[in-house]
Amino acid sequence: MNEAQLYRFPPGFRWGVGTSAFQIEGGVAEDGRGRSVWDTFTGVEGKIHSGHTADVACDHFHRYEEDFALIAQLGVPGYRFSVSWPRVMPDGRTLEVRGLAFYDRMVDALLDRGISPSVTLYHWDLPQALEDEGGWPARDTAYRFADYAALVQELLGDRVDHWTTVNEPFCAAFLGYGTGVHAPGRSDEVLAMRAAHHLMLGHGLAMQVLRAGARQGQEFGLALNFAPALTDVDDERNREARRKFGGLHNRFFLDPALGRGYPEDVLADIRHLGDWTSVIHDGDLETIAQPMDWLGVNYYAPARVIPLEDAEAVSNCGLPGLRGMDVTPPRGPLTSFGWEQAPESLTDLLVWLHEHTGGLPTEVLENGAAFEDQVEQDGRIHDSERERYLHEHLHAILAAIHSGADVRGYVVWSLLDNFEWSLGYTQRFGLVRVDFADGLRRTVKDSARYYARVIEKNGLPV
Ligand code: NOJ
Repeated sequence: MNEAQLYRFPPGFRWGVGTSAFQIEGGVAEDGRGRSVWDTFTGVEGKIHSGHTADVACDHFHRYEEDFALIAQLGVPGYRFSVSWPRVMPDGRTLEVRGLAFYDRMVDALLDRGISPSVTLYHWDLPQALEDEGGWPARDTAYRFADYAALVQELLGDRVDHWTTVNEPFCAAFLGYGTGVHAPGRSDEVLAMRAAHHLMLGHGLAMQVLRAGARQGQEFGLALNFAPALTDVDDERNREARRKFGGLHNRFFLDPALGRGYPEDVLADIRHLGDWTSVIHDGDLETIAQPMDWLGVNYYAPARVIPLEDAEAVSNCGLPGLRGMDVTPPRGPLTSFGWEQAPESLTDLLVWLHEHTGGLPTEVLENGAAFEDQVEQDGRIHDSERERYLHEHLHAILAAIHSGADVRGYVVWSLLDNFEWSLGYTQRFGLVRVDFADGLRRTVKDSARYYARVIEKNGLPV
């Protein structure tokens, strides 16, 4: 292999940029859209940095054509976005034709520009009406989700090939119902575990209906967020701390989707939690175990963990029921979010996934970094830290591919600076700057130009 080949991605590698509905759309009262749990949560004092809301966000609802023109200008061939369930079904059950028509127009506008659409069905904006009936801790929500999935497939399925059921069930369950830092902001570990199961059930049910209505060429998968656990020491106690964290953070959501049920060791770790396993009905694990065409991998940073002297001590890690280990501060270099930049963990993760899943193809559906960008005198944004982050992580993916991992695509988070959940607009992840104080003006950052070069070469600049 010569040097040029060494830095090449496999032919057909899928490049993209990503966003999610609530984080960019705005237009919250347009065309009969219903309220989501995030609309409610952003209205609760003290939940979101500086009281920011997403009522307008990037106003993508009105500016999607301008945004798609930017994607085309950069030569990015794929766009991953999410459909807002309450825009399409304001009460979570009944179709709002005008809401669905918005996505219909969006898909056409993408295809007109030669951009391939990738739809995520659930990126955390549960219709408030369903939360009022119990939300994800209630079983019925999983069935409502499958009905919604079938509806979207019916309308967009003739033009959309690439589908993700649920984005990061970990966050929706554990942050939404466990720590309560995300909507709907409930803090109850048992509810969090019930929510986790119903999100996985919703994934399985949605996979079934999507496949049933599928045409040739469509592909379906799930997007999980992985945080590989790191320790300084590699003795038995440290390995155990890594096992516990990685077990509940990573394997708990992955293994049932692979058809292996919930990992026994994780169930044992959290056995002392109140009753949540009664929500697992006969047949659920079979429903969840639908064959996936690929696994969506969202990776930002690893977690540093340590064992605690007292194996029964409650952990600070925010995962329901974990004991006997803590997470410790990340080590520099950090992003503005305070996340550790550790590309080598992405290589290890992709290689581990290849082994653990028995060779299931993976697509990195989210990776990127927030930094405090400055607009320079020349009006440009020389975001060299983001450029370096992307470069190093792409390098890490190549290293995984050279070690045998079957990685098929990469999507940068995010196309635009946007509403970063509880941190409001304080974290800029975009390849394109959005000036929230100046009419939401878009400015292409240097990192976007770097990414455009990578895509053009299907490889890294050597
Ligand atoms: C994962 C989530 O899917 C996305 O919504 C979020 O903005 C990024 N991570 C960055 O935190």
